[in-house]
Amino acid sequence: MTDSLPIRRIDHVRFVVGNARQSAYFYRNCFGFDVVGYAGLETKERNEAGYVLRQGEITFVLASPLRAEHAYNARLAAHGDGVMDIAFEVDDVASAYETTTSRGAVGVQEPVVARTDEGEFETAVIRTYGDTTHTFLNRDRYTGVFAPGYLPLDPGRYNPTTARPVGLRFIDHIVGNVEEGKMDEWVEFYERVMGFRQLVHFDDKDISTEYTALMSKVVQGGDGRIKFPLNEPAEGRRRSQIAEYIDFYGGPGVQHIALATDDIVATVGALRHNDCSFLRVPKAYYELLPERVGAIDEDTERIAELGILVDRDDEGYMLQVFTKPVEDRPTLFFEIIQRKGSKSFGKGNFKALFEAIEREQARRGTL
Ligand code: FE2
Repeated sequence: MTDSLPIRRIDHVRFVVGNARQSAYFYRNCFGFDVVGYAGLETKERNEAGYVLRQGEITFVLASPLRAEHAYNARLAAHGDGVMDIAFEVDDVASAYETTTSRGAVGVQEPVVARTDEGEFETAVIRTYGDTTHTFLNRDRYTGVFAPGYLPLDPGRYNPTTARPVGLRFIDHIVGNVEEGKMDEWVEFYERVMGFRQLVHFDDKDISTEYTALMSKVVQGGDGRIKFPLNEPAEGRRRSQIAEYIDFYGGPGVQHIALATDDIVATVGALRHNDCSFLRVPKAYYELLPERVGAIDEDTERIAELGILVDRDDEGYMLQVFTKPVEDRPTLFFEIIQRKGSKSFGKGNFKALFEAIEREQARRGTL
C-alpha cells in the first residue's frame, strides 16, 4: 500500500509570516539556522519575499507578501504566522499528484515543470487539513539554489559569525490540530490517500487522564521517516489547548514541529543561551522522575535545570522539551527531541505538560 506513493522525505516546511526578514533573524539567531537562499526584489521576485533556512537536514522557508494584492494577506489576517505547506520530495511528481487526487485529495496545483538555465524543477500541490497543503516536488534535474527564483543570500546581509547551529538534525514529527470529531477523518486521509499507516502503539485511551484535553493518533509514511500525530480537542476539566489553538489560528493547522538532536542537553543549553522560551514543568516532576523512568545516561540535575522532560516505554526512553508559541497568537510552537530507543511521543509527560500549558493559558486568560 505504501509503495503506491513513494515519498522520499519531508523536503521543507513553508511558513507564511508577516515579516520574513525579521522571522529569518529569529530562526537564525535563536534556533541557529543558516540562511541559504533568498528570493525577493533583488532577485527579480516582485510579489513576495522568501528566505530558505537550513540546519542539518531541516529546511524551513519563510515567505511574506510584498504587495496588498497578494493572496498571503488574507491568510495572514485569518491565521497569523504559521505553516502553510509541508513539502515532500518524491520520485515522480505527476504520479504522486495523480494517485492522491484519484483517491480523493483536493488538488491545489497540477504538476508544473519549471524549466530554467539550472534545469527542471517539478511541483504539484494538494490540500490537507485546514488551509494547509502538501507539495510534491522533485529537483533531481535541478542544480540551482533550493528552487527557481532563489539565489544565495547577499553575504553582506548577515554577519556570518553571529548565528551558530545548535545541533538540530532532522524533523522527527509534525503535529496537526484538527476540529473536534475530525481526527479519524484525517487519519483515514493519510492512510487511504497518502498510503501512510497508523502507528498503533500510541494508544489514545492511555492519555485520557483528568488533565487530558485532547485525543491523538499518529500516522507515518515514507518508510517510517515521516510521522504526523493528529490531535483533536476533547472534553477536559478546563478549556482544551487544542480548542484554544483552533480559535486563535482560525481553524485546523500545524500545532508543533519536533526537531531531533543527538545531544538535547547541549542543544537546549544553546537555545536557552539564545533566549528561546520553553515551557517549564513543576519541580515535583523531577522528584518523581527516577521512580517513573529509572536510570538515564544524562545528569538529572542538568535535565531539571533545563526543564527537559523524560519518558520511557518498553523500547527505551526519550527526552523532549517544548518552546512557548513563537507568535503572539498561542498557535505554533516547537519541540526539541532526543530518542534513546523509544519511538513514542511522550504520552507519560502529557499530564505534567498539560499543567504547564494550563498555567500559560491561565496567564493569557483563555482557560
Ligand atoms: Fe511532539
